[in-house]
Amino acid sequence: MERDTANKTIEELRENIRYHDRKYYVENDPVISDYEYDKFVKDLERLEGQFPEFITPDSPTQRVSGEAAKEFPSVEHRTEMLSLDNTYNFDELREFHKRVLKNIPECEYVVEPKIDGLGVALAYEDGKFIRGATRGDGRVGEDVTLNLKTIRSIPLKIDDERLANVEVRGEVYMPLPGFKKMNKQREEDGEPVFANPRNAAAGSIRQLDPKIPASRPLDIFIYSLSFTEGLGFSTHWESLQALRSVGFKINPKAKLFKTLDEVIKYCEKLEEDRDKLDYEIDGTVIKVNSIEQQRILGATTKHPRWSIAYKFKARQATTRLVKITWQVGRTGALTPVAELEPVEVGGVTISRATLHNEDEIRKKDLKEGDIVLVERSGDVIPQVVKAISENRTGEEKEFAMPKECPECHGEIERPEGEARWRCQNLQCPAQLKRRIAHFASRNAMDIEHMGPETVDKLLDAELIKGLEDLYSLKKEEILELEGFEEKSAQNILDAIDDSKTRELSRLIFGLGIRHVGQYAGQLLAARFTSLDALAQAQYYQLEDIKGIGKETAESVVGFFTDEKNMKLIQALKDRGVAPSEKAKGELEGKVFVFTGSMKDFSRDEASKLVTSRGGIVSGSLSKNTDYLVAGEKPGSKFKKAKKLGVKVLDEREFKEIVGE
Ligand code: IVH
Repeated sequence: MERDTANKTIEELRENIRYHDRKYYVENDPVISDYEYDKFVKDLERLEGQFPEFITPDSPTQRVSGEAAKEFPSVEHRTEMLSLDNTYNFDELREFHKRVLKNIPECEYVVEPKIDGLGVALAYEDGKFIRGATRGDGRVGEDVTLNLKTIRSIPLKIDDERLANVEVRGEVYMPLPGFKKMNKQREEDGEPVFANPRNAAAGSIRQLDPKIPASRPLDIFIYSLSFTEGLGFSTHWESLQALRSVGFKINPKAKLFKTLDEVIKYCEKLEEDRDKLDYEIDGTVIKVNSIEQQRILGATTKHPRWSIAYKFKARQATTRLVKITWQVGRTGALTPVAELEPVEVGGVTISRATLHNEDEIRKKDLKEGDIVLVERSGDVIPQVVKAISENRTGEEKEFAMPKECPECHGEIERPEGEARWRCQNLQCPAQLKRRIAHFASRNAMDIEHMGPETVDKLLDAELIKGLEDLYSLKKEEILELEGFEEKSAQNILDAIDDSKTRELSRLIFGLGIRHVGQYAGQLLAARFTSLDALAQAQYYQLEDIKGIGKETAESVVGFFTDEKNMKLIQALKDRGVAPSEKAKGELEGKVFVFTGSMKDFSRDEASKLVTSRGGIVSGSLSKNTDYLVAGEKPGSKFKKAKKLGVKVLDEREFKEIVGE
């Protein structure tokens, strides 16, 4: 290709990629498939490889660029990054409003969610992103440009004269699903986990090697311009709309109000809806809308007088870490648990929190007796953030790693490369207890009334020794247990009997094979129509199934080569466990994902309709999904489905397909 044509094609490809980046990362509304998008990127990379003289820093291929730095240069902010004054109730908010009205006759307010992340400033010159900095002490921050460039919702180029030379401010955050996934992976890899999404975002942006933030699920909401002089905006609201129109990601929940009562109502609503968001917010930010009024109100040395934060009820609290105990999971893994003096954290009483593994306790230097900061975010398990070391009296006790399994006194081992110690005794009652409780649980064999306490009682009374024994229990035996009489004993027996014909997928999941979750259970049941067939499956057949990875395939083969497990399966069969034949028909092997709520069914009911007809229900949308069933208020899955070309069904169409 000629140099000139190449240069032109390169520019066109960049334009195209920028447009689709914005559609995908900012507007959450992709219009082409991943495949088509990847093709543009590959073409651009190839051409830039042939004509390296045309590579520019704002090219979409340069998001992850540069070598790891030794330290971050400092950046002096052009205007100081002030912080916000806080209010904790609406009386304080009314006082703020009164203070505002002393200086101006009346005003409108913009209310925005207060994103719990890391404040940054992004500078643009001639429409190009040239520098990004952390807030630092407000006056001087750190230059983290290369790291911020890896966030795909930050435009590297702005096509608008008016906003070509601006500095915008925003909050880098880590969405909750990505945070949970990342922590889970870190835990499995024996790496320290992050206490909360905010630490994860801040820790990622402070990495010297840009490849690290590039691999983390970071995102950003832009919430203001650093200076507005000469840009011609008369209100904050107007500036937000302009920023959105040139490709910045503005929070869709920002709203404009005329009265304080409306402001308060909206703050209440956001607090109520806090758990529905897939990112953490710790309050709302209330801002006087008029830029002229903002100027009149001015700022103290610390805070603007035209804005204030309304902080939600804290999800952090301090309490005493009374003791560290060790819990044995169904695979024998030992997990340390912080036994806490009960404390209320954002409306929920917490008395235990996971400490993940031995290294985590050491890293956080936790001692029994410490006063600790605990936190819960969204539906993430409560975490111990840190010990408040100033409160130490010297009476605190160093934790001791158990030398043997705390439940069965068997040998424990920490396999190389793993973060956790494992009890080596396969007969360990704690493992057995959890395996049986898992087998009986709702998403597995769904044996009603067979919760962990009942399993405990049965094991303690030595009425069962393995999960197969559930199926030979007699009424007289159950009546021996405390708290059972004729009727409840019969109920349990009926429930056990009922479970004999559960679907194969539930039985597979219930067996507790490592790496086989509910979804894998369904995939395996769809491919192998009986447990015997699955037990005979070869590694390559398993790995061939879309959605089953190497680890899972290996684990399944390993499970069925273990003689003990084969005996268990035989024993289950002998006692009449015979998974129901799945209905054949158009749902056979079809993968369904749900989003939003339906009028006539709960999620559970809808799932059962699908699985009882041979279909598969998955929690996450992918290329392998056949149908997305979208109820009312569908989430981001709806847009993703459109992008992936997955067929979307509304409730009526869903009913038709399942024949209800
Ligand atoms: S405006 C002068 N808006 O909260 C006003 N801040 O102390 C500057 N934050 O460090 C802040 N969401 O990083 C504003 N919608 C939002 C925000 C927000 C989060 C952070 C910001 C700042 C801190 C307030």
